[in-house]
Amino acid sequence: SRQVTASAPGKTILFGEHAVVYGKPAIAAAVDKRAYVTISKREDHLTHVTVGDLGVSGFLDLKNRTIQLENGSGMQRGILEYILKALIKAKTEDSVEVDVRLDIPIGAGLGSSAAVTVATIMAAASFNQITLTNETMANLAHQVELDVQGAASPIDTSLSTYGGVIYLSKQPQKLVKLEIPHELPIVIGYTSTRGNTGELVKLVRQKKDARPEVINPILDSMEAVANGARQAIIKGDHKTIGLLMNINQGLLDALGVNTEELSKMVFTARNQGAMGSKLTGAGGGGSMIAYCPGREEEVVSSINQFERAFQINVAHEGVRLEKP
Ligand code: PMV
Repeated sequence: SRQVTASAPGKTILFGEHAVVYGKPAIAAAVDKRAYVTISKREDHLTHVTVGDLGVSGFLDLKNRTIQLENGSGMQRGILEYILKALIKAKTEDSVEVDVRLDIPIGAGLGSSAAVTVATIMAAASFNQITLTNETMANLAHQVELDVQGAASPIDTSLSTYGGVIYLSKQPQKLVKLEIPHELPIVIGYTSTRGNTGELVKLVRQKKDARPEVINPILDSMEAVANGARQAIIKGDHKTIGLLMNINQGLLDALGVNTEELSKMVFTARNQGAMGSKLTGAGGGGSMIAYCPGREEEVVSSINQFERAFQINVAHEGVRLEKP
């Protein structure tokens, strides 16, 4: 029987989160933790999904666009909405069995929902014998995220589609893939609490509306940091990358999205020899990244004493079909 598997990587934001909401540039990298989506034919008339790593499963009605949860709690149910919409975007009509496997830790801000969405679109398109360009897949996946979340930047879906390191400028909206001459030695640390992205974006907007004369220069600084980092990454200038990360962390703190838990990890990483460290993504909990050439193991093990950390590499390959 016909069976197709596609996979797509998660992401981490290196520079420019929050500022990107106001048209400033951001830099993000795809990470070598992937979502794997396998689609096969079912002989009955039902469409069924299992996300084993989350303990979630359910039946999808592609015509009426409804979900009947079988296993899993309310919050984790969300993933089924991305899958339902992704299947529809890839013109799935047949009854199919969808099996999802995740390397990507959930709630670490690594873009697991985008990775699942992009991998589902590619697997389903291939199953339905439709060929989609990367650009089309990225667009469809972004539409799914907008649809499910209400708001979303194209960062996650772009990285899951194209892989690599991407510089995103919003005005004009443009994605530039950065050719990096070296690995990026990055450690991710994450807290058990996940910040609410929508609320954190709102919090920053309120500050900006109340005191534009204070906040606008911070956003301008973030832009200068991201542009400096772009050059430093291309050159492989470790020292400048680290320095700019530390500055970016200070600016994010000034916007009010830092937390004590994140700060503790940020300073632990620096004390263990990281050249730079900052929160990544929305903040208010969630994750941090440390840039630590030659010190990855020390940084991972010291953060692991009180939170969770792991080393990542850049995923140079974006969404792809897996060999059967
Ligand atoms: O926490 P994440 O990975 O969803 O990142 C949010 C990044 C923001 O800039 C705060 C919001 C956005 O949509 O770009």
